[in-house]
Amino acid sequence: MKLIDSHSHLILEAFDNDREEVIEQAFSCGVTHIVQSCDNLQEIERNLILANKYKNIWSSVGIHPHEAKTWTNESKDTILNYTKEEKVIAIGETGLDFFYNYSPQDVQIAVFHEQIKIAKEVSLPLIIHCRDAFKETIELLKIEKLEKGVFHCYTGDMETAKEALKLGLYISWSGILTFKNANDLRLIAKEIPLEKTLIETDCPFLTPLPYRGKRNEPKYVQYVAQELAKIHNVTPEEIGEITSNNTKKLFGIT
Ligand code: NI
Repeated sequence: MKLIDSHSHLILEAFDNDREEVIEQAFSCGVTHIVQSCDNLQEIERNLILANKYKNIWSSVGIHPHEAKTWTNESKDTILNYTKEEKVIAIGETGLDFFYNYSPQDVQIAVFHEQIKIAKEVSLPLIIHCRDAFKETIELLKIEKLEKGVFHCYTGDMETAKEALKLGLYISWSGILTFKNANDLRLIAKEIPLEKTLIETDCPFLTPLPYRGKRNEPKYVQYVAQELAKIHNVTPEEIGEITSNNTKKLFGIT
């Protein structure tokens, strides 16, 4: 089975002792590509070192809603500069997180809006993080008519998913889809055309069953694929093929 992990955080401390081993294992377990998500402008350098070391690791550049308060007058130019790097293929992750509210909501909205505009300006897809702020998120995306992007680790309702699809956006499923209490999410996943679906780990977080509770790794994206295969009544191999093609198309990678 060939799979792409469309969202990982391999530079976090959780991988400091065995990062290379984790990456090698993922590649030997059928993961063909890994897209590294960037949470702040300190992380981007380390993401790039990793991406430049491995042919099939790419990275986004941007500021996570938790860290929206770190936005400065220079942030836009810094992000724009990094988009010139060959291995930078998306803006994000950005969005709104009104569950944790680690940054004030008005700051989150302003910084998200800036990054939507940057994505449009440089024609790169946007990686969207959204928790408990789906209405506000869709509203901003609609104002800017954002067409290229993905709702990563989707946890919203059917209505929002349909709004996202209308804009042309993709929906990405994480290990949450395998959780016993995620029936609502599985029902939504069934309604989303596979042609608009990506899969991811968001590692080291959100480890799918049967490894829930342990550290997540890119190789566990296979369990998300298996769950989605059950939901759509197709083989995991088909899920791998379709979601890999979608990911390559969205991020413009081969
Ligand atoms: Ni993430």
